[in-house]
Amino acid sequence: MTSSTIEKGISIDLIDTPCLLVDMALVEKNLKTLFSKLSGTNVKVRPHLKTVKSPEFAKLLLAAGATGVCVAKLSEAEVMAAAGIEDILITTEIMGAPKLERLEKLIAKHAQVKVVIDSAVGACAMQNAAKNAGVKLSVFLELNVGQNRAGVEPGEPALRIANEISKQSNLQLIGIQGYEGHLQLLPDETERKRLCAESMEKLMSTVALLRQNGHKIDVITTGGTGTSEYCVEAGANEVQPGSFIFMDVAYRRAIGQRYENALTVVSTVISKPSESRCVIDAGFKSLSTDSGNAELRSHTNMTYRPAGDEHGIIESSNSKLQLEIGDRVELIPSHIDTTVNLHDYYYCHRGGRIENVWRLSARGKVQ
Ligand SMILES: Cc1ncc(COP(=O)(O)O)c(C=O)c1O
Repeated sequence: MTSSTIEKGISIDLIDTPCLLVDMALVEKNLKTLFSKLSGTNVKVRPHLKTVKSPEFAKLLLAAGATGVCVAKLSEAEVMAAAGIEDILITTEIMGAPKLERLEKLIAKHAQVKVVIDSAVGACAMQNAAKNAGVKLSVFLELNVGQNRAGVEPGEPALRIANEISKQSNLQLIGIQGYEGHLQLLPDETERKRLCAESMEKLMSTVALLRQNGHKIDVITTGGTGTSEYCVEAGANEVQPGSFIFMDVAYRRAIGQRYENALTVVSTVISKPSESRCVIDAGFKSLSTDSGNAELRSHTNMTYRPAGDEHGIIESSNSKLQLEIGDRVELIPSHIDTTVNLHDYYYCHRGGRIENVWRLSARGKVQ
C-alpha cells in the first residue's frame, strides 16, 4: 500500500518500503522522560523542530508541555505558522533579499515569530524587515559559547551588538541564545557536563554584563538532547532539545539509552546473492551517512552498509544470514535529522497497527 491508500489500523507489514516507521508509544515515553526530568525547575521547553519537520509532531510536543518551538530555517517557520503554530524561534540568522522579503510577510501575520541576531548588519536587516512589516520584532542575541559556528563572542563584543539591537526602534531584545552544539555527542558524561558548565559560564557572564548595561534579558535559551539538564542547572531558563523525540545511533552511543529509539527505517530484502550477504532497498537516499552507518534494530549479529543510492547490504558475522528475499528489516538511523529529511511521510504505529500517516511538510525546507 502507498501513503495515499493507507488505512488506519492496518498492519505495519503492509506498508511499502523503504519508509520511516514511528513507534508512538516510544515517542510518548521519550516526551515523558524529558518533561518529567525538567518538571519542577520552572524551565521552559522549546523543542527544536529541525528533527521532526512536521507540524503534527510539533503539536504533540506542545500538547506535552512545550511552550514554543524552534526551527532552523525561515521556510520551516513558514510551514509551522501555516499549520497554526505561533510561538516560533528561528535559530539561524536570516540574510539576503529573498528571505528578508519572506520574513516581512511572515512577521506581519505572525506576531510571535522570533529571530536571532549576531551582527550589526543583522540588526539593520531585521530592523528593516520589522519596519516594513509594521511590527515590533522580538529578537535573541546569539552568542558563541564554544561551538565556533555563528554567534557573537561573549563579553564586550556581545554588548556591542546588544547595543546595536537596542538602537533599532522596531526590535525588542528579549533574550540570548547560546547553543553548545559541539558538546551534544561527547560520550564521556563527566566531560560533557564539565565543558557544558564552561559554555554556560560564558553565557551567564554575558547575560550579567548585558543586564548591568540596562538590557532586559528575560530568556536564556540553549541546550540540546545531550546537555539540556546541565544547562538548566547552570542558569538557562529555556531549553531546545530536538533529537530526543526519536533518537539515533550517534546519540545512543553518546548518552546511552536515556531515550528510546522510536524511529526506524523499514526496508525489504530484494536479493540474496550469497549465504552471508543480502541486499535491501535502502541506500544513501533512505538513510543518511554523515554520522556513519545505520544499525539493525534486531539481528544484532548483522551489519548494514549502503551500496549505492537505492541499495544497501546486510552481512552477517556468522556465515549463514538469517534473512531471506522478501523479509523486512528495521534500521536505526545513525543521524536522525538528516535521515528524516530524505522521506515524505511518517508511518506512525502503535503495537504494529498504523495510527496515522503524517506528511513531512517541512522536508527539504532548507531556505
Ligand atoms: C540551535 C540549536 N538548538 C537546539 C538543537 C537541538 O539539538 P539536538 O537535536 O541535539 O537535541 C540544535 C540542533 O542542531 C540547534 O542547532
